[in-house]
Amino acid sequence: MARKKIGLIGAGNIGGELANLAVAKQLGDVVLFDIPSKEAFAKGKALDLEQATAVNGADASVVGSSNWADLAGADVLIITAGIPRKPGQSRDDLVGINLPIIRDVAGKAKQHCPDAFVIVISNPLDAMVYEYKRVVGAPRSKVVGMAGVLDSSRFTLFLARELGLSIKDVRTMVLGGHGDDMVPLLTYCTVDGVPITQLCPKDKLDAIVARTRTGGGEIVKLMGTSAYYAPAAAAIAMAGAYLHDEKRMLPCAVYLEGEYGYRDLYMGVPAVIGAGGVEEVVEVELTDAEQEMLAKSAASVQKVVDIVKAS
Ligand code: APR
Repeated sequence: MARKKIGLIGAGNIGGELANLAVAKQLGDVVLFDIPSKEAFAKGKALDLEQATAVNGADASVVGSSNWADLAGADVLIITAGIPRKPGQSRDDLVGINLPIIRDVAGKAKQHCPDAFVIVISNPLDAMVYEYKRVVGAPRSKVVGMAGVLDSSRFTLFLARELGLSIKDVRTMVLGGHGDDMVPLLTYCTVDGVPITQLCPKDKLDAIVARTRTGGGEIVKLMGTSAYYAPAAAAIAMAGAYLHDEKRMLPCAVYLEGEYGYRDLYMGVPAVIGAGGVEEVVEVELTDAEQEMLAKSAASVQKVVDIVKAS
């Protein structure tokens, strides 16, 4: 069987780590794409990564390019094209600058690799993935946004550290938009099946929820740019679920068609990812308080989508 082809649109910080992980996990051959003025940079990064495969013994090619023709036949596209946050900026502040970029990328992708499973990472995530789907006109099974896996990873880490327990046994779920009013679902957070509320005092939990919500901003403040290792790991988990037909239930930004009471909106919900792409949206029971938080988060996403629609 031919190796799968992974197109990474944006060869910056996340793009580079995506390429590194895609090769390390042997997901397929990688095309690291960027704009023409960054083509040499993309080629250099690709060469560096390929040289690492010689040490690690991974059979995969990594090619840098600014030519969309090189993306033809891609099985998976992961989109990080755009500008990351700087300290003091919210994700929503990026809408004006990243909207034309996502439109450009979606138009080209529609032309050159219409059958790919697409994972959007560019921010503001829920609005960018909405616009991407609108431009390409693909079914929702083929266009998904990466946010919930990342947000949940932050929640999981903070809980595991607080409890002094292995990260392997802590399971968390964060839904809603990829913004500061995302919705960590305490009802479904467990340590090996034990509800987190039995193990962690409320004041500690509240502080961890608050830290999770601003987890991206905490890193921007420290580094002067946004996170890239964990976002890349999250998107690679989603790509792997698709390529290996894993049927994983992962919190992803999915185009809602009435689920949870929302429609014509991308927002984080539990979704089953397998060979069919987004194969199912799983509707879990929410408490009244969680429903209220989700409504607040949906309203924030809608506000940015309205800006996109008006532009
Ligand atoms: N086509 C392809 N690549 C593009 C385009 C375009 N039209 N426009 C910009 N890019 C490239 C940039 O040249 C840059 O190399 O996208 C890359 C983005 O890389 P970084 O600046 O390092 O940003 P990164 O940290 O990878 O984040 C990218 O993901 O999480 C989000 O908020 C983050 O929106 C940001 C995106």
